Amino acid sequence: MCGIIGYCGPKNATKVIVQGLRRLEYRGYDSAGIAVGSNGSLKVIKSKGKIKDLHNKIPEDLESTYGIGHTRWATHGVVNDINAHPHVDCTGDLAVVHNGIIENFESLKNMLKAEGHTFHSETDSEVIVHLIEKYFKDDLEKAVKEALPLLKGTFGIVCVHAKEPGTIVGARNGSPLVMGIGLDEMFLASDVTAIIAHTKQAVYLEDGEIVVIKPDGFVTTDIDDRQVTKEIEQITWELQEIEKNGHPFFMEKEIIEQPESIRRAISGRIDKDQATAHLGGLNLSTKDLTNIERVKIIAAGTSYYASMVGAYLLEAIPRIPAIAELASEVRYRNPIIEKNTLYFAVTQSGETVDTLYAMKELKRKGATVLGICNVVGSSIARDSDGGVYIHSGPEIAVASTKAFTSQISVFYLFSLLLARMRDLSFSEGEKFIQDLQSIPFKVEKILDMRLKIKEMAKKYAHCSDFLFLGRGVNYPVALEGALKLKEISYIHAEGYSSAEIKHGPIALINEDTPSLFLVPDDDLRGKIISNIKEVKARKGKVIAICVEGDEEIKDIVDDIVEIPKTTELFYPFLMVIPLQLFAYYCALELGRDVDQPRNLAKSVTVE
Ligand code: AGP
Repeated sequence: MCGIIGYCGPKNATKVIVQGLRRLEYRGYDSAGIAVGSNGSLKVIKSKGKIKDLHNKIPEDLESTYGIGHTRWATHGVVNDINAHPHVDCTGDLAVVHNGIIENFESLKNMLKAEGHTFHSETDSEVIVHLIEKYFKDDLEKAVKEALPLLKGTFGIVCVHAKEPGTIVGARNGSPLVMGIGLDEMFLASDVTAIIAHTKQAVYLEDGEIVVIKPDGFVTTDIDDRQVTKEIEQITWELQEIEKNGHPFFMEKEIIEQPESIRRAISGRIDKDQATAHLGGLNLSTKDLTNIERVKIIAAGTSYYASMVGAYLLEAIPRIPAIAELASEVRYRNPIIEKNTLYFAVTQSGETVDTLYAMKELKRKGATVLGICNVVGSSIARDSDGGVYIHSGPEIAVASTKAFTSQISVFYLFSLLLARMRDLSFSEGEKFIQDLQSIPFKVEKILDMRLKIKEMAKKYAHCSDFLFLGRGVNYPVALEGALKLKEISYIHAEGYSSAEIKHGPIALINEDTPSLFLVPDDDLRGKIISNIKEVKARKGKVIAICVEGDEEIKDIVDDIVEIPKTTELFYPFLMVIPLQLFAYYCALELGRDVDQPRNLAKSVTVE
């Protein structure tokens, strides 16, 4: 949602902070700012726009050895310089950056104004700095601890005071905060991408923890001043994984990484001797797995569509009733927790607040919730009852691509595991494993034809509306394709079940509204062909993602993308790649900011 960072140590803090903000920019990029200690006071520089706009405002010779920074995704208050963080108190000596939402900020603002505090911004976050100022005498940590209990909502905050040069105080409640431990230098940040260039030693803070960092060390306590012992963990990602490595955009890099990221998601988890899968971290006994009578999956966005594929697989393979539900809906629906029901929370970032708080609600009511996450040490990964990391590597582009195929990889493995404990035979299990292990090679073949998809995108990128149609296990893929197109090209797109088009959406069909159909060579192919003909009869343009060698369809539609053949249930892997590429190339054709589309952020940590 927002990126926050703090640094103290021997390096030029301004440079370290700005570099860190560049790596955090994918979390939000409406505006940015820094507050650094300089000659006994704080130098605060803020700017609407991106980090490059902020950087242009920073004097080349601005020296400092400590400071904080922020890159914003606006929630309260328009995008402008004043609403950018850091926010400072009335003296200008105290600065705070915040990630999250303060829900009771109006009442706090009124109270503080009545006590003489002057506010400048429209943000909720500004109340934090004035609240700390209210309690500050000569101890920043103490003032923070007196202020925090009055805040309702979520926060990850980092703050500095000119009277305590070199000291940085951080606190976490509902928004992520990780500490980096360097040689005579310390970092605080929203996630490890901001610190990985300096250190691989990390400490993940939990809700309710406060940390004070100085160049020579750190102290973690809780709100009641009790010491909290923290484990130092090794960051597993490499720096080059968060670089573009010659690609114009992270999105292109991450689409092309998918043969490798799918291999990483399944590697070490297939047991050929038993023709099954092993998923460490589920924290479920064999008996627990046998007793599962139902699976419910909560997620948001692309992860929700991956969850829909997962639910379909669980019903098709181990024949277990399963459903994917929007986390934001489950949280406030007073969910019914059924016995012998296993829940999954699926999330790339592990920080999506809709999913995090829906999981907390389910757990509060006694449910067992496992996480399927990408970011190690993320809030959902840490709060869940166990789970599976998808190992897709850092996904920096706002539009999720490799996480989707890695998430469904985990559902294929889990479906195999449960099915082999039920009715799937050894030879069926062996065939399943062969199909799964062939997928990366087939994805490579599709990637090899990406320039054909680029040409097709040029032809259609200027349309204003699209329909994406799929059936069965590919219906969620149609939904995902529509989301990809709209979120990075800003073209309106809707996903539907193919059969559903005749129940209304077909009214939208005209020569300027293309329909993109997913046409696997499965039992429903004939019916999908009928749906295509219904569209063609109304002069609609049709693009078909079909199986190589499907000669009949070439005479019916306007454009085709041929994908390799695979077993019916495995088509989601292959159908989604052309849709990712189509969205990417349409966005390029339209000159969009592909990695950081307008109004979006990589991890939505507000409701
Ligand atoms: C996907 O391209 C979007 N960026 C968005 O829908 C995303 O999938 C959603 O916000 C969920 O994020 P998560 O997987 O990190 O929970």
